[in-house]
Amino acid sequence: MCGIVGYIGKEEAAPILLYGLSRLEYRGYDSAGISVYDGGEVRTVKAAGKLENLIRLTEEGRAVHGSVGIGHTRWATHGEPSDVNAHPHVSASGRIAVVHNGIIENYLSLKQMLQAEGVVFRSETDTEVVAQLIDFYYEGDILRAVSRAVDKLDGSYALGILCSDHPDMLLAARKESPLIVAYGEGCNYIASDVTAVLKYTRSVSYMEDEEIAVVREGSITFYNEYLQQIEKPVVHIDWDVEAAEKGGYAHFMLKEIHEQPRVVKNTLSAHIRNGRVDLSDTMLTEDYCREIDKVQIIGCGSAYHVGVVGRYLLEKYARIPAEAVLASEFRYSEPIVDEKTLVIVISQSGETADTIAAMREAKRLGAKTLAIVNVVGSTIAKEADSVIYTLAGPEIAVATTKAYSAQLAIFYLITVALAEKRGKLKEAESAAIVRALEALPGQIEEILTHKEALQQLASKYFNNSSIFFIGRNLDYAISLEGSLKLKEISYIHSEAYAGGELKHGTISLIEPETLVIAVATYEQLFDKLMSNVKEVTARKASVFCVAQARNAEDAGKAAADCFFIPDTHEMLTPSLACVPLQLFAYYVALNRGCDIDKPRNLAKSVTVE
Ligand code: M6R
Repeated sequence: MCGIVGYIGKEEAAPILLYGLSRLEYRGYDSAGISVYDGGEVRTVKAAGKLENLIRLTEEGRAVHGSVGIGHTRWATHGEPSDVNAHPHVSASGRIAVVHNGIIENYLSLKQMLQAEGVVFRSETDTEVVAQLIDFYYEGDILRAVSRAVDKLDGSYALGILCSDHPDMLLAARKESPLIVAYGEGCNYIASDVTAVLKYTRSVSYMEDEEIAVVREGSITFYNEYLQQIEKPVVHIDWDVEAAEKGGYAHFMLKEIHEQPRVVKNTLSAHIRNGRVDLSDTMLTEDYCREIDKVQIIGCGSAYHVGVVGRYLLEKYARIPAEAVLASEFRYSEPIVDEKTLVIVISQSGETADTIAAMREAKRLGAKTLAIVNVVGSTIAKEADSVIYTLAGPEIAVATTKAYSAQLAIFYLITVALAEKRGKLKEAESAAIVRALEALPGQIEEILTHKEALQQLASKYFNNSSIFFIGRNLDYAISLEGSLKLKEISYIHSEAYAGGELKHGTISLIEPETLVIAVATYEQLFDKLMSNVKEVTARKASVFCVAQARNAEDAGKAAADCFFIPDTHEMLTPSLACVPLQLFAYYVALNRGCDIDKPRNLAKSVTVE
């Protein structure tokens, strides 16, 4: 996620901005920049790569003078990580400088409108549109120009704004992306995260959606969306820096679990236009979708598990042969792929060695590759024939949660696009799926409000030495992920089985009180999975069942413990079922005192074979 810091006071701004940015480094970024008003104009310095590059360029800030400025660490979403795409973005007149966190969904149409008015753009970013738009509306009153501009923005934003005509103020505005203002002694600050300013002050106000703040050296004034002046409480921060980096959550994993509603919303809304899935900016054209005769999905760990979900979806809805293959197996299996095979490559980091090797092998054999990647500019993103980005932001916990959810979201979109273009999905059915997709973020949010129930279950079962997961079809794919999540952070032995496989061997491991987690959200096979539940309860296993609310009565009769997810379209249950399993794994690991964010023997990105 990107980071914002701003300062206005009597000190030199640049060193304060650079220090603030260094406190935001933990969030992940790929470029950084600052803009400072130097008494005559706004001076902007930006550098791709590590913050050290910017620190060197500015001689630790000593080379940039002025006591009002804004700074930013960027995590690329639109346009590769580069000097020109780094923030701050400055309007063509040089008057307005903007730093931005979030995603402007309608930036292309705004850009076209401004280009038609003769505005010349330098970068590929959505943020530059904001700077140019504010300048476009500017007629001497910067507050009004900002208000008019943000009114036109769809999507999410936290903005820090500097105007060379008004060097006595910074402006801040937010919608769906965090932003605070902080009160100093004879100075004030803005920041996306309190960690950036905790060294200087612990008094802050949290901005709410559609509010604008005018921050001066000696005052901060807040306005609502109608530009009426409003009062805001001042909050005293008593967290330490480490807690502040986690946004008050005990671990990054828990923070990232809670980010899922926003991540899923951002990822979906980038490709849903006017109620329809739109992947027209990828290789999935109508002709290409009709041409391919099979799909291979490759990835490692959780990314592979998304592939297992994808394989079921593509076969069922697009009626195309599809297979999920572990990247480490694919690369050495002499795979049968050719120019008619679509190879979908899934990776959060885009740098996983086995996945890169498998992708290169697929390309060598003539297949076309479509990557689902989180990190813009990563190796897989660069080498694949086409890329769809998951807009999850940087993921810090080793155990993936939000990136996994974003990958699932992309897979639903790919399924709808392929099924439609191959003539396998009626318009009404697509529309129903899109409606259900749009409801997903709210439903995930609802599940998160019941996390205490998972915490209690975890307290009951955390001492088990072995935990089994069972499911069928999509629920089997989710069981694989639930089991991996649990074992990687809690170190409890765990395995996942397709429900029908139990009697072919595994059931011999079931003893009295063995915990079996039954994932029973796939409507068509709910009864079959309940039969499996009966098989294990007959052997005195304890069963915790995850089911849709519509099956609460039957699931409640079959299993001692249950968690019900909201009802959804049959294709989308993985996105809801995974959340209680993530939370269960998290609380089990917490009870066992494990190092949740950095489990033993594991690395976030596996860049060696
Ligand atoms: O960066 P990638 O998505 O390619 O990483 C793949 C796996 O290493 C990753 O999903 C791993 O299994 C996670 N630790 C699971 O939580």
